[in-house]
Amino acid sequence: MEGIDPTRSEVVASGLEGVEVASTALSHVDGEQGRLIVAGRDVEDLAAQAGFEEVCALLWEDASGREGLGSALGRARVLAFEEIPRLGSALEASDAMDGLRAAIAHLSAGGDLREDRVRVTAAMAVFAAAWCRIHAGAPPLAPDAGSSHAADYLRMATGSREQARALEAYLVTVAEHGMNASTFAARVVASTGSDLVSAVVAALGALKGPLHGGAPGPVLDMLDAVGEPERAAAWLEAELGAGRRIMGMGHRVYRVRDPRAAVLERAVEALERTGNSAARLRLARAVERTAEAILQARHPERRLRANVEFYTAVLLEAVGLPREAFAATFAVGRVVGWCAHVAEQRRTGRLIRPSARYVGPMPPASR
Ligand code: COA
Repeated sequence: MEGIDPTRSEVVASGLEGVEVASTALSHVDGEQGRLIVAGRDVEDLAAQAGFEEVCALLWEDASGREGLGSALGRARVLAFEEIPRLGSALEASDAMDGLRAAIAHLSAGGDLREDRVRVTAAMAVFAAAWCRIHAGAPPLAPDAGSSHAADYLRMATGSREQARALEAYLVTVAEHGMNASTFAARVVASTGSDLVSAVVAALGALKGPLHGGAPGPVLDMLDAVGEPERAAAWLEAELGAGRRIMGMGHRVYRVRDPRAAVLERAVEALERTGNSAARLRLARAVERTAEAILQARHPERRLRANVEFYTAVLLEAVGLPREAFAATFAVGRVVGWCAHVAEQRRTGRLIRPSARYVGPMPPASR
């Protein structure tokens, strides 16, 4: 191509795999060993020992700590609930992520990141729960400022807080995970000097996609379609034969089973609430084993194992959330990481602005 030397530099892989785009003190994803460290702690320990508010305090380096943040989030949930009448038809969207994105976009950032992150995190739970209620044909339930964030989200969404500890383990497990697509989107927006609400709206858009946060609903659809463990192989082969991917399997970074899958699998095990959730778990395990073997045979070069979404589906169903709200519930947890990354990105003061190699036509030579 005249005027452009196509050999002047290598284009990095189109998915930016293996490219380190930031230094972060927030989390480390070790894809070879299957280890996730969040704020200096293994995700297994964090999920077993820390509550949602404590993870906010750790990732936001907020000196007001677990209790201070608990009260601030409680107050902010009440204020977010008062905003609902001013959201127009946002929460009537048939897709929960469309509704949540539109509702969050109504917020305006005040400029103080410490206050904005509490407001946005509180609003995420209140709006996602309100979407669940509206879509069940019921009025939104008001927050209880004295409740824990996880228990209050569950009660506002489903009317019951009975399985709140399992949901809290989930929210903690997904709060932060390296440079995933939605976090990167948030950091790109933050790098332009834009505000937290804009960064979070961009992140919601990225999270919505089925290759990122949109997988757990389809995982449940798959379990429904398979029905019985003996039917798993035939169903999975047909799905792959039709050129579709198996939801909840494979990961860009992990070459072993996603450590979060084990954390969530154990959390479901601990529920042992109903024969129904035990049967779901048995089916999920059988489908996972079969999918792993089939994918291993098809892709011996690439170890495709269960990712976080596989057992997210089983857990969120067991706590009583509707599958249409699974991705929105992911956002209720992941917003903590987005806020932390926006703060970290701001401290760099550097605009993220890569280049693209032009491969289009050149203007006519006569010009
Ligand atoms: N089902 C079937 N095939 C899959 C697969 C899956 N879940 N995941 C990857 N593959 C295939 C790819 O099609 C590719 O095959 P090809 O070389 O013949 O085209 C090969 O395995 C290698 O893919 P890989 O490079 O590992 O995928 P990626 O890094 O681009 O994608 C995901 C990672 C997560 C997007 C991908 O595994 C996926 O789509 N999984 C299902 C969706 C999901 O669960 N998302 C939640 C992620 S936490």
